[in-house]
Formats: sequence, structure tokens, C-alpha cells
Amino acid sequence: MIRSVVRGNGAALPRRIMKNADFEGMVETSDEWIVQRTGIRQRHVAADDETTASLGEAAARAALDSAGMTPADIDLIILATSTPNNTFPATAVEIQNRLGMHHGFAFDMQAVCSGFVYAVATADLYIRGGLARRVLVIGSETFSRILDWNDRSTCVLFGDGAGALVLEAQEGAGAITDRGVLAASLRSDGAHKDKLFVDGGPSTTGTVGHLRMEGREVFKHAVGMITDVIEATFGEAGITAQDLDWFVPHQANKRIIDASARKLGIAEEKVVVTVDLHGNTSAASVPLALSVAVADGRIKKGDLVLLEAMGGGFTWGAVLLRW
Ligand code: UT7
Repeated sequence: MIRSVVRGNGAALPRRIMKNADFEGMVETSDEWIVQRTGIRQRHVAADDETTASLGEAAARAALDSAGMTPADIDLIILATSTPNNTFPATAVEIQNRLGMHHGFAFDMQAVCSGFVYAVATADLYIRGGLARRVLVIGSETFSRILDWNDRSTCVLFGDGAGALVLEAQEGAGAITDRGVLAASLRSDGAHKDKLFVDGGPSTTGTVGHLRMEGREVFKHAVGMITDVIEATFGEAGITAQDLDWFVPHQANKRIIDASARKLGIAEEKVVVTVDLHGNTSAASVPLALSVAVADGRIKKGDLVLLEAMGGGFTWGAVLLRW
């Protein structure tokens, strides 16, 4: 059977780093509160000349370099983002143009923080369905542009950045030992849409709006939803937590990551945590975490890796792949 195998990965971060202490003069907060409640120590914040498209392009170029490929080799670009450069066209086509790519096709995917997990699962279907052989999957966000910088309950949590993977079709035996995407489970439930949303949009207010979140409510649902969808993925693949080499979760809150890993029986040393460095970068958080763990030599060819995310909608999902 055809498998979607990771050929390369890349990341890009805005130049400017904002430390927790930098918020202390802006809103009533403290480094101690942010670290204790979230695990976040710093985040990158885009300058005027850094956008979802420019960060996504940089991450895509890094992923292509690491794959030893050029844009000419790519058939499809899927960009996971909730902070597109414009309402339309899709920022994916802007990245396509920036890459000098005038063949194939490109589209955006909007599942907020779960966007990258949705996009990898979707790319896998395009590859296995024969519509594309090589896909650039990008998660790129500039949440700093939709934050209410006077709201301490949200502005300290998010950051900007981008990450990307190149997936390529390869014949596999159909076994768990194959490289590539092995299983995926996706979920959403719009009954929770008012717990994490943006209070504007083209068809309602005609404005972009600001992010609003009932953090405690999101927290309350997160661990149960994450562990459910991961157990479904384990069931589909016929594995247990002990078989995993690495758990790369969405990076929203260290307490959510720890509680999910504990509930699933995933050993602490197998969990990749980058929320301290990047904050919550929504659809970019999983590929950014992957890029850190690949660069420092933790994730290696042949490792069994579990990706997971949960966010606005609610949306949630997991992808199991062999690197
Ligand atoms: O990526 C999409 C998914 N999103 C998430 O997973 C986020 C999930 N939620 C969370 O991570 C947590 O709920 C937060 C980090 C957002 C908040 O942590 P919490 O432990 O749930 O705190 P809380 O909302 O219950 O607030 C506790 C207190 C409140 O004060 P009172 O009511 O106890 O007086 C807040 O007003 O902390 C206050 N507070 C702050 N204090 C200092 C809220 N934000 C801040 C802040 N600095 N930045």
C-alpha cells in the first residue's frame, strides 16, 4: 500500500522574542503566574514585515532543503492557519507564488490549533488517493495580530511562528513497521464554539476581530478529548503507549500536556515540550515542536511518533507516523 513518508521538515520564527517579564508593565500579570499556570517562558512576535505567508514560506524552504527537494518537486501545498494574510485568496497560494511554483494546487485548512494534525491527515489522503505524490504541509500563524493586548487571560498565552513537513508517496507493506503516516483520528464538535473563538469575521462584523477564550472551560475538556482521540488512534494502529518513541502534542499548556501523558501512560522522557520557548502557536505548534526534537537528535528515522492537537471549535485529532 502507499504510505505518506516524511522526507524533510523545517521551521521559522519571528526575530523578536517577548519574555514573560515584558508583559508585567502592560497588564496585571507576572512571570511567576505565567510559568506556574502554563509553562510558557517566552514567545516570538511578528514584526510588521513578518506575516503568515512570509513565515510559512521560510518554513517551507527549510523543509524542502532538508528533503533535498525544490518547489518543482511539489504537487500540493496545504497550509493550516487561522491567521491568513487576507480573507482570500488562500495564503497557501501566496506561499506557492513566493516559492515560484506555478503548477499543482494549494489551499488553506482552518481547524485552529488542530489545523496541522488535520492537514497531515488530509495530505495523507491526497497521497494515498493518487492526487498528489509530494505534499508540503505547513502550519503558520501570526496570532499576535488577533490578540486583545489588554486581556491578560489570553495575550500572554500565544505566539507566532511556522513549521512544515514534506510528505512523499512510498510503497509500504501495510505493516506497523512501515515508515509514513500509519493512523489518524479527527474530531470536532461545534457545540463548544463559543468557548474559544474570534469575535469578528467577514460575514458577521466585516472586521477581523479578537481572540476570546474561556480558558478554564477549554482546560476542562482538553485532557478527556485528547486522550479519547489518541486511544482511538492506538486502537486503529493496534499499538499501546509503550510502543511509542515520541509524543509531540499541541503546545498550549504544560499542565494539559503532563496530564494527558500521565492518563495515557506515556513516559515523561518521551514527551516533546516546547511551550516554554514558543507559547501557543496554534497550527504551528506541532511542526515547531517536531523541528526542535529533530534538530536536537531526539526524533530519528524509524521512530514511532504521535502527533496530537486540540483547539477552537472544538476540534481535536491525532496522527501516528513512523518518521
Ligand atoms: O490552543 C487551544 C487550546 N487552549 C488551551 O488549551 C488553553 C486551556 N486553558 C488554559 O491553559 C488555562 O485555563 C489558562 C492558562 C488559560 C488559565 O489557567 P487556569 O489555571 O485555568 O486559571 P483561571 O482561568 O482559573 O484563572 C485563575 C486566576 C483568575 O483570577 P481569580 O478569578 O481567581 O481572581 C484569573 O483572573 O488567574 C487570573 N489570571 C491571571 N493572573 C495573572 C488570568 N490570567 C492571568 C494572568 N496573570 N495572565
